[in-house]
Formats: sequence, C-alpha cells, structure tokens
Amino acid sequence: MNIKKRFGPALLFSCLAMSAYGGESSIQLATGAQTALVQLRCSTCHSLDYIVMNSSFLARAAWDAEVRKMMKVMGAPIPENDVAPIVDYLTQQYGTK
Ligand code: HEC
Repeated sequence: MNIKKRFGPALLFSCLAMSAYGGESSIQLATGAQTALVQLRCSTCHSLDYIVMNSSFLARAAWDAEVRKMMKVMGAPIPENDVAPIVDYLTQQYGTK
C-alpha cells in the first residue's frame, strides 16, 4: 500500500484548515450566509466581540430577545425582515446546540 498516496491529501487539507482558523485574536465572525448582514447591523455601536463573548450561552429564544433588546432598548435600526436571518445565524454559529 502506498502511504503517501493515502495521506497526502489529508495532510494538505489539515494545513489549509489550520491557516483558516489562525489569527483568532482579531474579531472575525464565523463565516455563514448572514455574516455580512450581522456585521452591518451589529457592529455600529459596539465591537462584534460582544457577540462572541456571549457565544454558546444563548439558545435561539435568548438570541432573539437579545436582538430585540438591541432594537427596542438600544435603538438599533434593524428592519423586522432582518431579525429572523440574524437570529438564525447567531443561533447556528454562537448558540447552545
Ligand atoms: C444602537 C446601538 C446598538 C446596535 C446597533 C447593536 N447593539 Fe448590542 N449593545 C448595545 C449597547 C449600548 C450594549 C451594552 C449594554 C450594556 O452595557 O449593558 C450592547 C450589548 C450587547 C451584548 C451584550 C449583552 C447585553 O445584552 O448587554 C450583545 C450580545 C449584543 N449587544 C449583541 C448585539 C447584536 C447581535 C446586534 C445586532 C443584531 C447588536 N448588538 C446591535 C447597542 C447596540
């Protein structure tokens, strides 16, 4: 059996994966369909690390409440149409599973 042939692609892939996850010190949201939307709506008043800091503590209902609090209490100008996609993204990337 040719070991190089079997493990070559796997090694290459793990190197690529590592470089993709490097540089985590600067706040970079996880890439998803709604990343740009969340960046647009949620980074005007505070840094996006507010989201990351709260990650994995909040389930969907709690993220929904969080976004609505930003709108109602903090006055974030977020159209109702954007709420569901934003909450979906936050739950998927930063919610409790
Ligand atoms: C209009 C300004 C504004 C916008 C836009 C905004 N926020 Fe905030 N957000 C705030 C303020 C002010 C605080 C700090 C509240 C505090 O210190 O208690 C905050 C705090 C937070 C916190 C920390 C927990 C908390 O409730 O204090 C999270 C999480 C958060 N924001 C998420 C978001 C998300 C997600 C979005 C986009 C949907 C967003 N914010 C958009 C003003 C905003």
